[in-house]
Amino acid sequence: MSSLSFKLNGEVALVTGGTSGIGLAIAEALLDHGAKVVVGSRKAEKVAAAQEQLAAGRPDDVVLATQLDVADRVSIDNALNAAVDTFGRIDILINCAGANLKKPTLDVTEDEHKWIFDVNYFGPFYACQAFARKVISQGPADETRGGYSIVNVCSVTSFFGLSEVTTYAGSKGALLALTRQLAVEWPQHYGIRVNGIAPGFVPADQNRQILKSGDRGRRILENTPMERFGTPDEIAGAVVYLVSPAGRFVNGECINIDGGFMINGVSDSTWKEDADA
Ligand SMILES: NC(=O)c1ccc[n+]([C@@H]2O[C@H](COP(=O)([O-])OP(=O)(O)OC[C@H]3O[C@@H](n4cnc5c(N)ncnc54)[C@H](OP(=O)(O)O)[C@@H]3O)[C@@H](O)[C@H]2O)c1
Repeated sequence: MSSLSFKLNGEVALVTGGTSGIGLAIAEALLDHGAKVVVGSRKAEKVAAAQEQLAAGRPDDVVLATQLDVADRVSIDNALNAAVDTFGRIDILINCAGANLKKPTLDVTEDEHKWIFDVNYFGPFYACQAFARKVISQGPADETRGGYSIVNVCSVTSFFGLSEVTTYAGSKGALLALTRQLAVEWPQHYGIRVNGIAPGFVPADQNRQILKSGDRGRRILENTPMERFGTPDEIAGAVVYLVSPAGRFVNGECINIDGGFMINGVSDSTWKEDADA
């Protein structure tokens, strides 16, 4: 039997944007594998709903949902403090909060550009810093486990162009660069592994309209060898792998989870018009 399992053993994770879509699915998967989880986002009603959904059928002391705005450094510190106050420590940071904007690049305003970068790049950057300071104060991680670990939720647009999401793609490209930078700097100093995931196309609140606009959804499906969109729970398993003992030698990687979209050259298509976005 392999000694390196996918099991988490009470490790504590903060999942930003963990109240819906991919972040909520990641939180569920981490809990299912034995972690304690703090999720956070801006809207009180989403926070309350996530607390109820994630806590259902679990022990009392494994879930905390809290309001969090990653564009505000104090709010990030508060969420990390809440994790430590509630569960005694922090081991894992999942930077999943994200904002999207589809607009001709010439029309993007300075405020829009700033908003997208605040949520998708500066927020994760400050969260990584604040997380690192916390784990340094805790002392070395247990090396027989997955250890201290960050996963940044990047995007296929971290790697290639997609029309009219220039600001989003720029922020996600920067997030991938941040992932690689920290992955060469932090393991040896602080014992923190840093990885990313790049989800393909998963209908969610922030992109449902974009996937439905014009023929974009159709063209995505035509260019996806698996000929369908993904679901949030299909994204989450890679995060469990990255933070678990099974992933403990993985560092600086960004795993594409996209039904083959990124590697597609030319594939025969059986795609039909009735596929649902
Ligand atoms: N779905 C896809 O196809 C796809 C593909 C590639 C990458 N991604 C990335 O996956 C991540 C999750 O997105 P999703 O698709 O699952 O969309 P989603 O369901 O809309 O989730 C986005 C989450 O981010 C939170 N959020 C937004 N702004 C925030 C802020 N300033 N501070 C804290 N939380 C904030 C939202 O909650 P509140 O509104 O309550 O703040 C929500 O929980 C994003 O980083 C996205 O870019 C998604």
